[in-house]
Amino acid sequence: MTNVSIIVLDFGSQYTQLIARRLREDQIYCEILPYHTKVEDIKAKNPKGVILSGGPSSVYNKDAYEVDQGVYEMGIPVLGICYGMQRIAVDFGGSVIRSDHHEYGKAELNINNYETNASKLFADCDNERIVWMSHSDRVDEIPAGFEVIATSANSPFAAIANEEKNVYAMQFHPEVQHSEEGYLMLRNFAKKICGVDEKWKMEHFLKEQIRIIKEKVGDGKVLCGLSGGVDSSVVAAMLYEAIGDQLIPVFVDNGLLRKGEREQVEQIFKVNLKAPLVVADAADLFLGRLAGISDPEQKRKIIGHTFIEVFEQEAKKHDGIKFLAQGTLYPDVIESISVNGPSEVIKSHHNVGGLPDWMDFELIEPLRELFKDEVRKIGLELGLPESMINRHPFPGPGLAIRIMGDVNQADLDLLREADVIMLDELKASGYYTRTWQAFTVLLNVKSVGVMGDNRTYDNTVCVRVVEAVDGMTATFAHLPHDLLERISRRIINEVDGINRVVYDISSKPPATIEWE
Ligand code: XMP
Repeated sequence: MTNVSIIVLDFGSQYTQLIARRLREDQIYCEILPYHTKVEDIKAKNPKGVILSGGPSSVYNKDAYEVDQGVYEMGIPVLGICYGMQRIAVDFGGSVIRSDHHEYGKAELNINNYETNASKLFADCDNERIVWMSHSDRVDEIPAGFEVIATSANSPFAAIANEEKNVYAMQFHPEVQHSEEGYLMLRNFAKKICGVDEKWKMEHFLKEQIRIIKEKVGDGKVLCGLSGGVDSSVVAAMLYEAIGDQLIPVFVDNGLLRKGEREQVEQIFKVNLKAPLVVADAADLFLGRLAGISDPEQKRKIIGHTFIEVFEQEAKKHDGIKFLAQGTLYPDVIESISVNGPSEVIKSHHNVGGLPDWMDFELIEPLRELFKDEVRKIGLELGLPESMINRHPFPGPGLAIRIMGDVNQADLDLLREADVIMLDELKASGYYTRTWQAFTVLLNVKSVGVMGDNRTYDNTVCVRVVEAVDGMTATFAHLPHDLLERISRRIINEVDGINRVVYDISSKPPATIEWE
């Protein structure tokens, strides 16, 4: 088993996984455990350091999340971030005040004694870099034995430390991308303060997950829902490594696929996956259920439930299927589930928020803690071809969330034609591989046009092409105007029923990537 270098205790922040991700990027292995984990269980993993994450609650709440005080006596360094800092301040005898004023956004970090004797936490960091604050409570009085190691205009205690006890704390979030050099501070904590020197690689994660799957599944069978996208393909390949023929891969033709997609997926899997692919024909079932439904969340829920129904019907054809495997990723989880209350459900990603209570399967989701770029690395590790790994993501609910309003066969056909033209042009221009995702959306908007000498009153299609690293944030792609023009001209000329094409120039946030 891999040695755990750093334990992250999770107090419920949306960013907890980003801490783990930053450390993994530096080949430092860490595990996330719930904040209430007993010190004996932490010791059993023999870590070299502990990080207390941020969290939405207040240290003065009646049911405030507490840490086992033994964590501070383990003799290994501790770093608190945001709520983690406030926890440390109170646990060591300082105080925290509630503030009505929420400090959210950028702040310039001033490192104390930058020229002479800065804390090891800031080794190799530039001074006056931007960090990201997101808090309302703040430390009012630092505990005895602690000193201030960095400040910002609004935070006299932006970072504090008791170097003798090896306890460090930051008010800001070093793990988010907006914190310049935040990754360096986490690296300094792990390497320079905790003395981590092992080199952890994605292949260790893969081996560990394969071991866990084997142990969990025993001699049972696993049905794996495949979409043809990279996530579920990687899960299927992992499962095949772990349990061989006990894997039943199922691809559902839900009638919401892009043009030629079913044939492409069948072909890809024939060549690259050793287990024989089951294709379930369920287009009529899905389209029947979606008829007349226009609310986006309702559409997502219906699709999620229908997927499970189809999987259960398939499972009945095989003996002993107890498990359903899915390629759920961390961003699906964080946007679908309200963690500890106050965070909002953005949209129910069908494989998380869309699952029904009555489902009989036990879930296997080996990628649940990862981001897509990390999954792509695992795919390469598993020997999957680049063409499979670099496919753009395609959401489980498919074209249903790209048709505004209710979904019907005629609109699906129209959208498919526009979509394939756009993808064609994007691939020919080389922009497909340079972008995260590209698709067309059928807006429920008709407008007047003139074709030849005739008036038209037809549909509008929106082209959406975005750049992203992990899908959590995205910017619209700055495509050359002549490429946009070609896409627009071809769609309008070649697809009967579309007379206007627009380009989506919004980023995420505040928009999302998909329209529904
Ligand atoms: P949003 O629209 O939330 O999308 O900004 C972020 C990424 O997730 C994909 N997406 C989904 N993937 N099931 C999936 O498997 C879903 O229900 C789902 N909804 C969105 C989306 O295509 C983008 O890549």
